[in-house]
Amino acid sequence: MIQALGYLGFGTTKPDDWGQFATNRLGMQAVDRGGGMRAFRMDDRKQRLIADTAIPDGEKVFGWEVADAAALDALAARLDAGGVAVRRETAAMADQRAATALISFLDPAGNRLEAFHGGQIAADPFRPGRDIAGFRAGPLGVGHALIVVPDIEASLTFYRDLLGFRISDFIRHPFSAYFMHVNGRHHSLAIVEGPGRAMHHLMVELFSFDDVGIGYDLAQSDPDRVAVKLGRHPNDLMTSFYMHSPSDFLVEYGWGGREVDDATWKPIEMTDVGSFWGHQGLFQTLGDAPPDAPPPPAPHSGPAQRAPLLVIDGNYERMNGVCPWWDAATQGSASGAK
Ligand SMILES: [Fe+2]
Repeated sequence: MIQALGYLGFGTTKPDDWGQFATNRLGMQAVDRGGGMRAFRMDDRKQRLIADTAIPDGEKVFGWEVADAAALDALAARLDAGGVAVRRETAAMADQRAATALISFLDPAGNRLEAFHGGQIAADPFRPGRDIAGFRAGPLGVGHALIVVPDIEASLTFYRDLLGFRISDFIRHPFSAYFMHVNGRHHSLAIVEGPGRAMHHLMVELFSFDDVGIGYDLAQSDPDRVAVKLGRHPNDLMTSFYMHSPSDFLVEYGWGGREVDDATWKPIEMTDVGSFWGHQGLFQTLGDAPPDAPPPPAPHSGPAQRAPLLVIDGNYERMNGVCPWWDAATQGSASGAK
Protein backbone atom coordinates (compact mmCIF):
# COMPACT_ATOMS: atom_id res chain seq x y z
CA MET A 1 0.00 0.00 0.00
CA ILE A 2 1.96 3.06 1.19
CA GLN A 3 5.55 2.83 -0.02
CA ALA A 4 7.37 5.88 1.32
CA LEU A 5 7.20 9.32 2.85
CA GLY A 6 7.43 10.99 -0.55
CA TYR A 7 7.51 14.60 0.61
CA LEU A 8 7.00 16.82 3.62
CA GLY A 9 5.33 20.20 3.39
CA PHE A 10 4.90 22.76 6.14
CA GLY A 11 3.65 26.26 6.69
CA THR A 12 6.22 28.91 7.44
CA THR A 13 6.49 32.65 7.84
CA LYS A 14 10.23 32.46 7.12
CA PRO A 15 10.68 31.23 3.54
CA ASP A 16 14.01 33.04 3.14
CA ASP A 17 15.42 31.53 6.33
CA TRP A 18 14.37 28.13 5.02
CA GLY A 19 16.08 28.89 1.73
CA GLN A 20 19.35 29.45 3.57
CA PHE A 21 19.00 26.59 6.05
CA ALA A 22 17.91 23.92 3.58
CA THR A 23 20.73 24.69 1.14
CA ASN A 24 23.70 25.86 3.23
CA ARG A 25 23.15 23.62 6.21
CA LEU A 26 21.24 20.58 4.95
CA GLY A 27 22.69 20.54 1.44
CA MET A 28 19.38 20.41 -0.39
CA GLN A 29 18.83 22.04 -3.77
CA ALA A 30 16.45 25.01 -3.92
CA VAL A 31 13.90 24.83 -6.71
CA ASP A 32 12.26 27.96 -8.05
CA ARG A 33 8.53 27.60 -7.40
CA GLY A 34 7.52 31.26 -7.20
CA GLY A 35 5.30 33.09 -4.74
CA GLY A 36 5.67 32.24 -1.09
CA MET A 37 6.74 28.67 -1.71
CA ARG A 38 10.24 27.27 -1.37
CA ALA A 39 10.76 23.74 -2.59
CA PHE A 40 13.88 21.65 -2.16
CA ARG A 41 15.29 18.61 -3.87
CA MET A 42 17.18 15.74 -2.26
CA ASP A 43 17.46 13.39 -5.22
CA ASP A 44 16.00 13.00 -8.70
CA ARG A 45 12.51 14.02 -7.60
CA LYS A 46 11.38 17.55 -8.41
CA GLN A 47 10.81 18.28 -4.72
CA ARG A 48 11.00 16.55 -1.38
CA LEU A 49 10.64 19.38 1.12
CA ILE A 50 8.11 22.21 0.67
CA ALA A 51 8.09 25.36 2.81
CA ASP A 52 4.96 27.31 1.96
CA THR A 53 3.63 30.60 3.31
CA ALA A 54 0.16 29.59 2.04
CA ILE A 55 0.02 26.73 4.58
CA PRO A 56 -0.80 27.96 8.11
CA ASP A 57 2.39 28.40 10.14
CA GLY A 58 3.09 25.30 12.19
CA GLU A 59 0.91 22.99 10.08
CA LYS A 60 2.54 20.02 8.37
CA VAL A 61 1.60 18.09 5.25
CA PHE A 62 2.80 14.50 5.12
CA GLY A 63 2.96 13.19 1.54
CA TRP A 64 2.67 9.40 1.52
CA GLU A 65 3.44 7.68 -1.75
CA VAL A 66 1.60 4.77 -3.33
CA ALA A 67 2.51 2.80 -6.45
CA ASP A 68 -0.09 3.88 -8.99
CA ALA A 69 -3.63 5.09 -9.66
CA ALA A 70 -5.15 1.74 -8.67
CA ALA A 71 -3.33 1.79 -5.32
CA LEU A 72 -4.51 5.35 -4.71
CA ASP A 73 -8.12 4.34 -5.48
CA ALA A 74 -7.81 1.32 -3.18
CA LEU A 75 -6.43 3.48 -0.37
CA ALA A 76 -9.23 6.04 -0.82
CA ALA A 77 -11.83 3.25 -0.67
CA ARG A 78 -10.22 1.77 2.42
CA LEU A 79 -10.20 5.11 4.22
CA ASP A 80 -13.78 5.73 3.18
CA ALA A 81 -14.85 2.34 4.53
CA GLY A 82 -12.96 3.14 7.74
CA GLY A 83 -15.01 6.30 8.20
CA VAL A 84 -12.21 8.72 7.28
CA ALA A 85 -13.26 11.67 5.12
CA VAL A 86 -11.19 11.61 1.94
CA ARG A 87 -10.89 14.46 -0.50
CA ARG A 88 -9.77 14.07 -4.10
CA GLU A 89 -7.53 17.02 -4.77
CA THR A 90 -7.52 18.97 -8.01
CA ALA A 91 -5.01 18.53 -10.80
CA ALA A 92 -3.65 21.97 -9.90
CA MET A 93 -2.96 20.84 -6.33
CA ALA A 94 -1.38 17.60 -7.55
CA ASP A 95 0.82 19.65 -9.84
CA GLN A 96 1.83 21.86 -6.94
CA ARG A 97 2.99 18.70 -5.17
CA ALA A 98 4.75 17.50 -8.34
CA ALA A 99 2.54 14.40 -8.39
CA THR A 100 0.15 12.83 -10.88
CA ALA A 101 -2.81 12.48 -8.51
CA LEU A 102 -3.49 13.30 -4.90
CA ILE A 103 -5.95 12.63 -2.11
CA SER A 104 -5.99 14.27 1.32
CA PHE A 105 -7.34 13.30 4.73
CA LEU A 106 -6.63 13.82 8.43
CA ASP A 107 -5.06 11.45 10.93
CA PRO A 108 -6.73 11.07 14.36
CA ALA A 109 -4.49 13.79 15.83
CA GLY A 110 -5.55 16.23 13.09
CA ASN A 111 -2.43 16.14 10.93
CA ARG A 112 -3.01 16.68 7.23
CA LEU A 113 -1.95 13.63 5.26
CA GLU A 114 -1.80 13.41 1.50
CA ALA A 115 -1.41 10.25 -0.53
CA PHE A 116 -0.16 10.46 -4.08
CA HIS A 117 1.23 8.52 -6.98
CA GLY A 118 3.47 9.51 -9.86
CA GLY A 119 6.03 11.72 -8.15
CA GLN A 120 7.61 13.79 -10.90
CA ILE A 121 11.27 13.33 -11.81
CA ALA A 122 13.35 16.42 -12.58
CA ALA A 123 14.94 16.79 -16.00
CA ASP A 124 18.33 17.74 -14.57
CA PRO A 125 20.48 15.91 -12.01
CA PHE A 126 20.41 16.78 -8.30
CA ARG A 127 22.81 19.61 -7.47
CA PRO A 128 23.33 19.87 -3.72
CA GLY A 129 23.17 23.28 -2.06
CA ARG A 130 26.52 22.61 -0.41
CA ASP A 131 29.13 20.01 -1.20
CA ILE A 132 27.59 16.73 -0.07
CA ALA A 133 27.65 13.31 -1.73
CA GLY A 134 23.87 13.11 -1.55
CA PHE A 135 20.88 11.97 0.45
CA ARG A 136 19.80 8.41 0.99
CA ALA A 137 16.25 9.03 -0.26
CA GLY A 138 14.93 7.51 -3.52
CA PRO A 139 12.64 4.55 -2.81
CA LEU A 140 13.23 5.01 0.94
CA GLY A 141 11.63 8.45 0.77
CA VAL A 142 12.52 11.72 2.47
CA GLY A 143 13.53 10.13 5.76
CA HIS A 144 11.43 9.85 8.89
CA ALA A 145 9.18 12.08 10.95
CA LEU A 146 8.56 11.83 14.68
CA ILE A 147 5.20 13.22 15.69
CA VAL A 148 3.68 13.73 19.12
CA VAL A 149 0.05 12.66 19.39
CA PRO A 150 -2.39 13.01 22.30
CA ASP A 151 -4.00 9.55 21.92
CA ILE A 152 -1.44 6.98 20.84
CA GLU A 153 -3.89 4.09 20.62
CA ALA A 154 -6.06 5.99 18.14
CA SER A 155 -3.01 6.88 16.03
CA LEU A 156 -1.62 3.36 16.20
CA THR A 157 -4.91 1.88 15.02
CA PHE A 158 -5.06 4.39 12.18
CA TYR A 159 -1.52 4.04 10.88
CA ARG A 160 -1.14 0.32 11.44
CA ASP A 161 -4.59 -1.07 10.70
CA LEU A 162 -5.89 1.40 8.13
CA LEU A 163 -2.74 2.58 6.36
CA GLY A 164 -0.78 -0.67 6.74
CA PHE A 165 2.31 0.67 8.53
CA ARG A 166 4.36 -2.07 10.23
CA ILE A 167 5.84 -1.75 13.72
CA SER A 168 9.62 -1.94 13.94
CA ASP A 169 9.85 -1.40 17.67
CA PHE A 170 8.04 0.31 20.49
CA ILE A 171 8.43 1.79 23.98
CA ARG A 172 5.95 1.43 26.84
CA HIS A 173 7.94 3.05 29.67
CA PRO A 174 8.70 5.75 30.61
CA PHE A 175 6.51 6.93 27.70
CA SER A 176 4.61 5.30 24.82
CA ALA A 177 6.07 5.32 21.32
CA TYR A 178 5.86 3.28 18.13
CA PHE A 179 8.44 3.29 15.34
CA MET A 180 6.85 2.18 12.08
CA HIS A 181 8.13 1.29 8.63
CA VAL A 182 6.58 1.32 5.17
CA ASN A 183 9.73 0.21 3.27
CA GLY A 184 13.21 -0.96 4.20
CA ARG A 185 13.97 2.15 6.23
CA HIS A 186 13.73 1.21 9.92
CA HIS A 187 11.06 3.83 10.46
CA SER A 188 9.42 6.41 8.26
CA LEU A 189 7.11 7.52 11.07
CA ALA A 190 7.43 7.48 14.84
CA ILE A 191 4.49 8.36 17.05
CA VAL A 192 5.05 9.39 20.65
CA GLU A 193 2.28 10.05 23.15
CA GLY A 194 2.33 13.51 24.64
CA PRO A 195 0.18 16.52 25.25
CA GLY A 196 -1.16 18.17 22.11
CA ARG A 197 -0.08 17.61 18.54
CA ALA A 198 3.35 18.41 17.21
CA MET A 199 6.11 17.27 14.91
CA HIS A 200 9.30 16.85 16.91
CA HIS A 201 11.68 16.23 14.03
CA LEU A 202 12.31 15.27 10.45
CA MET A 203 15.26 12.96 9.86
CA VAL A 204 17.24 13.09 6.62
CA GLU A 205 20.00 10.57 5.94
CA LEU A 206 23.28 11.24 4.18
CA PHE A 207 25.31 8.79 2.10
CA SER A 208 28.59 9.95 3.59
CA PHE A 209 29.42 9.92 7.30
CA ASP A 210 31.83 12.79 6.65
CA ASP A 211 28.98 14.92 5.32
CA VAL A 212 27.25 14.53 8.68
CA GLY A 213 30.48 15.53 10.42
CA ILE A 214 30.92 18.59 8.19
CA GLY A 215 27.25 19.42 8.80
CA TYR A 216 27.96 19.20 12.52
CA ASP A 217 30.85 21.65 12.18
CA LEU A 218 28.68 24.05 10.19
CA ALA A 219 25.78 23.77 12.64
CA GLN A 220 28.10 24.56 15.53
CA SER A 221 29.17 27.72 13.73
CA ASP A 222 25.60 29.05 14.10
CA PRO A 223 24.41 30.32 17.48
CA ASP A 224 21.94 27.89 19.10
CA ARG A 225 21.66 25.71 15.98
CA VAL A 226 22.57 22.38 17.57
CA ALA A 227 19.68 21.05 19.67
CA VAL A 228 21.00 17.52 20.30
CA LYS A 229 24.65 16.50 20.13
CA LEU A 230 26.06 13.76 17.93
CA GLY A 231 25.14 10.26 19.09
CA ARG A 232 23.96 6.82 18.00
CA HIS A 233 20.40 5.54 18.34
CA PRO A 234 19.84 2.02 19.66
CA ASN A 235 16.96 1.09 17.35
CA ASP A 236 17.70 2.35 13.85
CA LEU A 237 21.44 2.53 14.66
CA MET A 238 21.55 6.00 13.11
CA THR A 239 24.51 8.19 13.99
CA SER A 240 23.08 11.68 14.00
CA PHE A 241 22.68 15.09 15.56
CA TYR A 242 19.69 17.43 15.63
CA MET A 243 19.43 21.03 14.50
CA HIS A 244 16.91 23.74 15.19
CA SER A 245 15.24 24.65 11.89
CA PRO A 246 13.62 28.02 11.12
CA SER A 247 10.30 26.34 12.06
CA ASP A 248 9.00 24.67 15.23
CA PHE A 249 10.56 21.28 14.47
CA LEU A 250 14.09 19.90 14.56
CA VAL A 251 15.98 18.30 11.69
CA GLU A 252 17.91 15.13 12.52
CA TYR A 253 20.94 14.79 10.26
CA GLY A 254 22.08 11.20 10.16
CA TRP A 255 24.11 8.42 8.62
CA GLY A 256 24.11 4.63 8.60
CA GLY A 257 20.49 3.78 9.40
CA ARG A 258 19.57 0.12 9.49
CA GLU A 259 16.99 -1.54 7.26
CA VAL A 260 14.29 -3.96 8.25
CA ASP A 261 13.07 -6.94 6.26
CA ASP A 262 9.39 -7.78 6.68
CA ALA A 263 10.10 -11.44 5.98
CA THR A 264 12.08 -11.81 9.19
CA TRP A 265 11.50 -8.72 11.32
CA LYS A 266 9.55 -8.99 14.58
CA PRO A 267 8.52 -5.88 16.56
CA ILE A 268 10.84 -5.32 19.49
CA GLU A 269 9.94 -3.71 22.81
CA MET A 270 12.70 -1.33 23.79
CA THR A 271 13.27 -1.19 27.53
CA ASP A 272 16.22 1.18 27.30
CA VAL A 273 15.54 4.38 25.42
CA GLY A 274 19.00 5.85 25.82
CA SER A 275 21.40 6.18 22.93
CA PHE A 276 24.57 4.07 22.72
CA TRP A 277 26.45 7.30 23.30
CA GLY A 278 25.88 11.00 22.77
CA HIS A 279 22.57 12.66 21.83
CA GLN A 280 22.86 14.88 24.89
CA GLY A 281 19.85 17.17 24.97
CA LEU A 282 17.42 14.81 23.24
CA PHE A 283 15.09 14.27 26.18
CA GLN A 284 14.99 17.96 27.00
CA THR A 285 13.69 18.59 23.46
CA LEU A 286 10.89 16.10 24.02
CA GLY A 287 9.54 18.24 26.85
CA ASP A 288 9.68 18.01 30.58
CA ALA A 289 9.52 14.54 32.07
CA PRO A 290 6.33 13.65 33.97
CA PRO A 291 6.72 14.07 37.74
CA ASP A 292 6.64 10.32 38.41
CA ALA A 293 9.28 9.51 35.78
CA PRO A 294 12.48 7.94 37.08
CA PRO A 295 15.56 10.14 36.92
CA PRO A 296 17.64 9.62 33.79
CA PRO A 297 20.39 7.07 34.31
CA ALA A 298 23.93 8.27 34.73
CA PRO A 299 25.73 8.08 31.40
CA HIS A 300 27.32 4.71 30.69
CA SER A 301 26.34 3.24 34.05
CA GLY A 302 25.40 -0.11 32.45
CA PRO A 303 27.25 -2.30 29.99
CA ALA A 304 28.43 -0.58 26.83
CA GLN A 305 26.17 -1.02 23.82
CA ARG A 306 27.66 -1.63 20.40
CA ALA A 307 26.50 -2.63 16.96
CA PRO A 308 28.20 -3.01 13.60
CA LEU A 309 28.22 -0.02 11.26
CA LEU A 310 25.80 -0.23 8.37
CA VAL A 311 27.53 0.69 5.16
CA ILE A 312 26.80 0.71 1.47
CA ASP A 313 29.09 -0.44 -1.29
CA GLY A 314 31.69 2.18 -2.01
CA ASN A 315 31.88 3.80 1.42
CA TYR A 316 33.99 1.27 3.27
CA GLU A 317 37.21 -0.63 2.95
CA ARG A 318 38.02 -3.73 4.93
CA MET A 319 41.05 -3.58 7.19
CA ASN A 320 43.19 -6.33 8.61
CA GLY A 321 42.54 -7.72 12.03
CA VAL A 322 39.85 -9.56 13.94
CA CYS A 323 37.14 -8.14 16.15
CA PRO A 324 37.04 -9.88 19.54
CA TRP A 325 33.79 -8.13 20.45
CA TRP A 326 31.99 -9.27 17.31
CA ASP A 327 33.29 -12.82 17.64
CA ALA A 328 32.06 -12.96 21.23
CA ALA A 329 28.73 -11.38 20.34
CA THR A 330 28.00 -13.87 17.58
CA GLN A 331 29.33 -16.96 19.31
CA GLY A 332 26.56 -19.51 19.69
CA SER A 333 24.14 -17.39 17.70
CA ALA A 334 22.97 -19.19 14.57
CA SER A 335 21.77 -16.01 12.90
CA GLY A 336 24.82 -13.95 13.69
CA ALA A 337 22.49 -11.07 14.56
CA LYS A 338 23.13 -8.99 17.60
FE1 LIG B 1 14.78 10.28 14.48
